[in-house]
Parts: sequence; structure tokens; C-alpha cells
Amino acid sequence: MDFLDLVKLRHSCRAYTDQPVADHLIDEILAVGGNAPVGRGLYNNLHFTVVQSESALNRIREYSTINGNDRSFGANVLIFVSTNNLENLISYENVACAVDHMALAASNLGLGNCYLYGFIRDMVQENAPQLDALNLPEGYVPLAALAIGYPVQNQVKPPKTELISKVKIQRV
Ligand SMILES: Cc1cc2nc3c(=O)[nH]c(=O)nc-3n(C[C@H](O)[C@H](O)[C@H](O)COP(=O)(O)O)c2cc1C
Repeated sequence: MDFLDLVKLRHSCRAYTDQPVADHLIDEILAVGGNAPVGRGLYNNLHFTVVQSESALNRIREYSTINGNDRSFGANVLIFVSTNNLENLISYENVACAVDHMALAASNLGLGNCYLYGFIRDMVQENAPQLDALNLPEGYVPLAALAIGYPVQNQVKPPKTELISKVKIQRV
């Protein structure tokens, strides 16, 4: 897909069907995420966890569901991005680059997706027991995740017809 068309198409999806996502699609998204630009080339300080087993998803949903609202939006694939280098602030940027690349890759494959941050931050701050579902290697902390899946009908938005920056621009 033309890159600008992809940017016009990508949007956050906050409700997913049960339709499974094929492994080769997840693999493509991971390959794109693992080739995102990463400050100082610190790929070794990042870690991807694909949460897709029923047991792991349920454990994460146990935490993400507050007052009946699932903050992982019922997605049946969640790719968590973790770092073992929190003391270096560049790790936060690197995680964001990887998630954003994966979001674009998912949209390019016709998959709904959403960048998840809030409930993961809360999980880490509270050291929630549900973090065990990630089975992370020693020293790694999750900072964000990408929810992926097939969007329910009312989540499918028409692509933007033109790209107008939502961020104020100043030229000096
Ligand atoms: C760093 C970051 C954190 C985000 N955290 C969440 C989140 O926790 N939950 C959520 O529903 N959306 C989250 N989003 C999605 C944004 O709300 C969304 O991208 C923004 O409102 C623009 O909408 P769009 O993605 O549909 O273009 C996050 C996005 C980014 C880049």
C-alpha cells in the first residue's frame, strides 16, 4: 500500500471480533517492529511478548478489565514491548518506535490495532500479580503493548481523505 494511504487508513481500534489472527501475519508485524529505528541500536534491551493463549489473555484481561471495560478491548493478540534498561530514558522512546512500526504494519495487513499504555503502566506501578502471564526474562519491564485483531464493524473507519497535521506547526 502507498505509505500516505496507509497513514490515512491507520486508526485506533477499540473492539475486536473473535476471529483469530494467522501466525504469519503476527510474524510479519513482529519483523517490522524488530526493525524499527532504535536509539543507539539498543535492540538487545527490548523484548517482545506475544500474548495469544487463552490462559495468558485471560490473566491480562483479569487486570485490564475495570468496571466491565476491558482496557485491552478484547483483542485476542497483544504484543507487549518490554525493556531491561529503564535507567536509560531512550528505552521509552525505543519502545514507542517499535510499537508504532507494528501498528502501521498491522494496519497494512488489514488488522485493527491500538497502542496500549495506560493499564500496563498501572500494572507495573502496582506490581500486579497478573504480570506473571508475560513470563518475562529477569529484569524486563513492560512499557506498552499493541492490541491486534479484526475490528468489529462499528470500529471500521473510512480512511482520511487528506492528511492535515493535528499538531501545531511553527517554522522558524
Ligand atoms: C504513547 C501512546 C499511548 C497510548 N495509550 C493508549 C491507551 O492506553 N489506551 C487507548 O485506548 N489508546 C491509547 N493510545 C491511542 C491514542 O489515544 C490514539 O492514537 C490517539 O487518540 C489518536 O487516534 P488514532 O490512533 O485513532 O489516530 C495511545 C497512543 C500512544 C501513541
